[in-house]
Amino acid sequence: MFASVLLALLAAGSALALPATRTTGGGSECDASKATITLPASQPSGTPLATPIAAGPSFVAIAIGVQNYTCGSTGTYTNVGALAELFDLSCFPDSWFNGITDVAWNAWRNADPDTTAANVISTLAEFDPPFVLGQHYFITNPVTGSGLSPKWDFTSASEAGHPDAYVVGARTGDIPAPTDPTVNIDWLSLSNLAGSGGDLADQVFRIQTRGGQPPASCTSGSAEIFVRYAAQYWFYGGSY
Ligand SMILES: *[C@@H]1O[C@H](CO)[C@@H](O)[C@H](O)[C@H]1NC(C)=O
Repeated sequence: MFASVLLALLAAGSALALPATRTTGGGSECDASKATITLPASQPSGTPLATPIAAGPSFVAIAIGVQNYTCGSTGTYTNVGALAELFDLSCFPDSWFNGITDVAWNAWRNADPDTTAANVISTLAEFDPPFVLGQHYFITNPVTGSGLSPKWDFTSASEAGHPDAYVVGARTGDIPAPTDPTVNIDWLSLSNLAGSGGDLADQVFRIQTRGGQPPASCTSGSAEIFVRYAAQYWFYGGSY
């Protein structure tokens, strides 16, 4: 059953009319502003997610990458960063976003350990050719100088030539993933960290997470681990 759904998605993906030529001016290859985000109607635990800016998103991305964890002295993992490649979802209709995310996640989770995110995406008909928006990684908090902050950076990809096309996030909301929260990492909302300089977005949401959670326990002193994940990142506001 699941396999046939995947095949149907793949077949339909190759028939979807994506633009033949990519925009050369940077940014997404399609207008994302009409895309509609779906957040859980009720958010029973955690810190409720922010309300998305009404004008609609500036970018909708799918990320595939890793969440990094180290093992603490109490025998549980602590998240110490992430590294992910962000691909443009903006050309797809709303109804496709979650199915496309599953297709990419299934390819990524099953890829051999040496395969890169870019390699995986380029094997999927839906992303032919793949359009890279940018990268997601962590930096030292640029305002306080201590602790790690998440950053989304389009300066070396879709916004090359715009040195401020990044956003450093400050978390505003954090809820368990609505399905399988021990496997799938939390859904988040973030604002643009005041004073961090970027103007890519005023708000970022991480939703539709797949994977990324560490094992429940670990042996203190064991090595850092890298857990594969996929997610959608929705960016609102900003200057691009
Ligand atoms: C996370 O892991 C990746 C490699 O898997 C590494 O390139 C990146 O620097 C790590 N980031 C942090 C903040 O540990």
